[in-house]
Amino acid sequence: MNNIKRRVGEGRSHSKIILIGEHSVVYGYPAIALPLKDVEVSCQIEKSDTPLLYISEDPLSTAVFSALEYLEISDYHLSLSVTSRIPEKRGMGSSAAVSIAAIRAVFDYFNYSLDKETLEMLVNQAEIIAHTNPSGLDAKTCLSNQAVKFIRNKGFELLDFQLDAYLVIADTGIHGHTKEAVQNVKNMNEHAFPILHQLGKLTEQFEKAFVDKSLHDMGKILSKAHIELQKLGVSIEKSDNLVKTALENGALGAKMSGGGLGGCVIALSPDMVSAQSLADKLMEKGAINTWIERI
Ligand code: PMV
Repeated sequence: MNNIKRRVGEGRSHSKIILIGEHSVVYGYPAIALPLKDVEVSCQIEKSDTPLLYISEDPLSTAVFSALEYLEISDYHLSLSVTSRIPEKRGMGSSAAVSIAAIRAVFDYFNYSLDKETLEMLVNQAEIIAHTNPSGLDAKTCLSNQAVKFIRNKGFELLDFQLDAYLVIADTGIHGHTKEAVQNVKNMNEHAFPILHQLGKLTEQFEKAFVDKSLHDMGKILSKAHIELQKLGVSIEKSDNLVKTALENGALGAKMSGGGLGGCVIALSPDMVSAQSLADKLMEKGAINTWIERI
């Protein structure tokens, strides 16, 4: 084992938002997610007099203990502090991002190098605690600086978004319930299949529109995906209202994002001025926070 050279270990991670393909990604269709590089979490680890408590249902705790076990340091006395700008349970990958930051902090504290594959494997272990059956999209996107097209159990592709457009993300202020929403879709059995298929098709069309740099088509496809997600029963009234507000106020398209039953709404804007005025309007209509990401 290396000597401990530093008294504080630090790790950071950014967040993510799903552009399109949530829910259908669970059934093998592609999804596209975007890293939100300015919305970050950081974790600091220091030596402590008391042992760190293991909370089995807490992804942060699982992440730290998985990292310690991986390094064969299972009984170390540590204290953790987390500073996060990522709201929890809003589909912004908070649990994956916190796990990434914490695992990086553990490795940093013990001065071990950490390759991306090991990090992703440890994060996904913690994500199983948070989501039971995660597709892996959150971890992949929080670990990426580029947009990610992801197909479960098949792989991923990095996409270069350089469209000179803006994505407005609006927080409904209501916790999303990914596990419950995924279960509800599962309970729909064959009734969900045509909707999931349509979401898969829309995701492929979205990727094509993006390659063609056709903002208008991208917007229309996002709005169509929202209607399909409504049919799956995973949107809520507040998300629907914010989508409507976005469309009435210059958005090229808008939809809920992530597992749903709460969480965030995204809207595509052609320029910064309209993105800012859209964000203001969404705040006026009940969003509790907004972010603007250049794409
Ligand atoms: O709420 P989020 O951002 O964690 O997204 C969940 C996305 C789902 O497709 C509903 C589930 C998954 O594991 O991909």
